[in-house]
Amino acid sequence: MKKVITYGTFDLLHYGHINLLRRAKALGDYLIVALSTDQFNRCQKNKTSYFSYEQRKELLEAIRYVDMVIPEESWEQKRGDIKKYGVDVFTIGDDWKGKFDFLKEEGCEVVYLPRTPDISTTQIKTNLSHGN
Ligand code: CTP
Repeated sequence: MKKVITYGTFDLLHYGHINLLRRAKALGDYLIVALSTDQFNRCQKNKTSYFSYEQRKELLEAIRYVDMVIPEESWEQKRGDIKKYGVDVFTIGDDWKGKFDFLKEEGCEVVYLPRTPDISTTQIKTNLSHGN
């Protein structure tokens, strides 16, 4: 079974996320989402999510493309996750292009998927705060 992993916050789940998850799953048979914890978001990514980790996890688990959700608690855990779960493919949006090429050293394929244009959690928040 070909295992795929992706990482992210997935707050205010939107169609850009769904597009990413659908294409990630299509790269293999089993999709693991490493979901940024609230503490990781706050302390390392400098963002506060609208939905809590547990709420974001529940939403992701309801999506047919997602087979397992694990916590993302540090930038450094990726190599360990790849070994622990026997991951074959690491994938993420191309806003990260080139940043994770070093994971190929773990014998894992690295795929950057084109981002869906004109949608992001930040944009939704900005629009809402402006009453759009
Ligand atoms: N993503 C995507 N297309 C978008 C938005 C996100 O393909 N329009 C992908 C990202 O590249 C990443 C995953 O979805 O692989 C999770 O992204 P995340 O940062 O949680 O979502 P964003 O909407 O980009 O959030 P933010 O605005 O806070 O950066």
